[in-house]
Amino acid sequence: MTAHVNYSQRDEIRDYWSDRAETFDLQVGHEIFSERERAAWHALISRHLGPGAGRASLDLACGTGVISHLMHDLGFVVTGLDWSEAMLAKARAKAQKRSADIRFIMRDAERTLEDKRSYDVIVTRHLVWTLLDPKAAFAEWFSLLKPGGSVLVIDGDFVSRNWATRMREVWEKLTAGKSRVSDNDGAAMARRHQNILARVYFSGGARAEEIVRLLAEAGFDQPVVDWKLGAIHRAQARQMSWPKALERATQHRFAICATKPQ
Ligand SMILES: C[S@@+](CC[C@H](N)C(=O)[O-])C[C@H]1O[C@@H](n2cnc3c(N)ncnc32)[C@H](O)[C@@H]1O
Repeated sequence: MTAHVNYSQRDEIRDYWSDRAETFDLQVGHEIFSERERAAWHALISRHLGPGAGRASLDLACGTGVISHLMHDLGFVVTGLDWSEAMLAKARAKAQKRSADIRFIMRDAERTLEDKRSYDVIVTRHLVWTLLDPKAAFAEWFSLLKPGGSVLVIDGDFVSRNWATRMREVWEKLTAGKSRVSDNDGAAMARRHQNILARVYFSGGARAEEIVRLLAEAGFDQPVVDWKLGAIHRAQARQMSWPKALERATQHRFAICATKPQ
């Protein structure tokens, strides 16, 4: 009874992700399963953040390090930050396997404890939708960047349902047990996910307009929304069921790049 007295919402979110660490990289959209997809990610990052050229980058909520490794490929000096030790263990094992010199640290992305003005770029994929306090987070990220530095937020509204969501659900019911695709978290995990989602800032789904507004409020120059994720989605679609691929292609998914004024 008393064991969980101080168990906070942050602990709950962290533990949820830790419990997903073991199978996280088995899912399309998490780990990268083709060179075609890798090239599409490299292109997205490069067109917003430019060449790595030894510049200091921070991958916030790096998880198993998928984005950290892409940044490393592009020549950035990379720090990957996550608050889940289980996720970081996966990220570190991958770095060791690839002999990639990436620094991984266990911290909260809303309070990083990193030095102010120490990064040229910050990148983060699929973190913002689960933030408790995006205002505080964006203020923190602004302070970590050098003047002229950029943040690239890759995220989406994974809450709103559209016609493709309904079609996918029907298809999954009809083919239950027959699917080759590993995209079902299980009912218990789905319930935990729903419980967490109900209480985060973007409980109604992370919309690009609201993120742009909050980034501007934090001091970033006019953020640019990039909807051109088609090359990534088409590459992923080759490894997915067609209803899932259709849903992904029609969801509100985006990248937003914003710069700290000089
Ligand atoms: C959907 S996964 C994304 C992982 C990685 N960015 C990727 O795209 O493959 C979300 C990750 O965010 C981490 N996370 C969520 N909130 C966090 C926070 N406030 N501070 C640090 N990590 C956080 C979780 O531990 C988890 O590893």
